[in-house]
Amino acid sequence: MKLLEPVRIGTMTAPNRVLVPAMVTRLSGEDGFVNQGIIDRYVRYSAGHVGLIVVEATAVHESKSGPLLRLSRDDFVAGHRDLVRQVKDAGPSKIVPQIIHFMKVARSGWRQTIDMLEERDIDGIVEAFGSAAARAREAGYDGIELHSAHAYTLSSFLSRRNPRRDAYDGRTLEGRLRMFGRVMARVRQMVGKDFPVGVRFLAEEAIKDGYALPDSQRIALRMAQLGVDYISLSVGGKFEDAVQKEGSPLYPYTGYSGDRCMPGEQYPPLPHVHLAAGIKAYINSHGFDVPVVSVGKISDPADAERLVTEGRADIVGMARQLLADPAWVRKVEEKREDAILRCIYCNVCKQLDENFKLVSCFLWPKGFTQAPIEDLSKDAPRWPATGAGLKASVEDGVVKLVWSRASGDVAGYDVFRAEADGTSKIVEAVKGAKFADKLALGGVGYTYHVMAYDGTGRHSPPSNVIHVETPVPAFGETGAAHA
Ligand SMILES: Cc1cc2nc3c(=O)[nH]c(=O)nc-3n(C[C@H](O)[C@H](O)[C@H](O)COP(=O)(O)O)c2cc1C
Repeated sequence: MKLLEPVRIGTMTAPNRVLVPAMVTRLSGEDGFVNQGIIDRYVRYSAGHVGLIVVEATAVHESKSGPLLRLSRDDFVAGHRDLVRQVKDAGPSKIVPQIIHFMKVARSGWRQTIDMLEERDIDGIVEAFGSAAARAREAGYDGIELHSAHAYTLSSFLSRRNPRRDAYDGRTLEGRLRMFGRVMARVRQMVGKDFPVGVRFLAEEAIKDGYALPDSQRIALRMAQLGVDYISLSVGGKFEDAVQKEGSPLYPYTGYSGDRCMPGEQYPPLPHVHLAAGIKAYINSHGFDVPVVSVGKISDPADAERLVTEGRADIVGMARQLLADPAWVRKVEEKREDAILRCIYCNVCKQLDENFKLVSCFLWPKGFTQAPIEDLSKDAPRWPATGAGLKASVEDGVVKLVWSRASGDVAGYDVFRAEADGTSKIVEAVKGAKFADKLALGGVGYTYHVMAYDGTGRHSPPSNVIHVETPVPAFGETGAAHA
């Protein structure tokens, strides 16, 4: 598979084309130091053979915040060095931290915006990025990623809603790009030409009057001209449409742009691929081959492979899927794709992040703070001798499924659904032996089956398959043509 082939990123070579994008874990304390929980989380990605690990957003400055890693002082370096060493001991992954500067937010709802920054504050931010990048190199990281996405400082300069009216003027593309240019130049000065510097920015802001593909193509081109070594794309996650919760600081993933950033189960798979493809084609046509990372609801190995073979992206990023199962790559290498614990995009992880709680996965056994480790010496869940006995009934347009409990160390059941002649896709993972499909449409016809899984992602064989037809409700004469 091309997905599993090495890829060159500046002066580093990642062992394959799978990247885990930055995901805040809330495992660090408010002190910002690396601790054992953090190390355990990232070691699992390396043991699972992820090509490039991007460590969660790590602050370049001292501003107060909830639990967040930091590289804002020299005394943070030792912890990062230990993290890098243990990740490298565990597997072949390359590892870079995502370095971030953010503005102040208060519980009252007040937030600092970039037009409040004096020139000397801007100089300070540029310096802070340079120093943090140098500390990352000292800690032994393989490179760094500049966080220029979502609601944070560098992204706010790039924004089409940048309110500045000076050399960083939000009304011109060059004005919006000036801050990133300064940061990139200072970082290069501090780390040298041979240290990979990647960037994460928004392919689309997904807010009213925000920018979309035409601007992000040009922003990416400038980043390539400035010598970035990879471009990782995200969407949305802005303050402008965030919903204020009384007494809590504003969280930039609560509005529509937040939905777009971490698309939930209501979105189709791969909703952002056209953006990566558009940006890659644009920079390639201008003679740059900087690797482009596509992220957003990618979990199926065949989809990931198609993305790279069709040239729509160079690297495939998976955040929530790799949180759920950090051994995804290893299982694909071993041709054991059925053993992957599939993300259902329920966004429980996002809610935990929002509430500053330790980020775990709904699919893990209760109480686990890290992904379970597969135990091949134990039997996978089994159906009773009489079979799974999957049955369906239809009530008020809802398809209700029930089945017999499987035996073994059962953590839950994946429910699969296919429309007539379509392929089966997971629609839900449930803890008990029943499920109500509230999104069935009359007149379509569905096929269902379920599989039990244990806490390590090992699955039972499929249950019996059942076919369900629900009628189109009668509304009287509507004049609709018959299919
Ligand atoms: C719990 C959580 C924390 C996240 N933290 C970060 C972060 O620190 N930096 C960042 O750029 N994106 C962050 N993201 C966004 C993800 O990197 C990713 O872009 C998003 O989840 C969509 O990818 P996916 O569909 O593969 O999950 C976070 C997402 C989640 C769910």
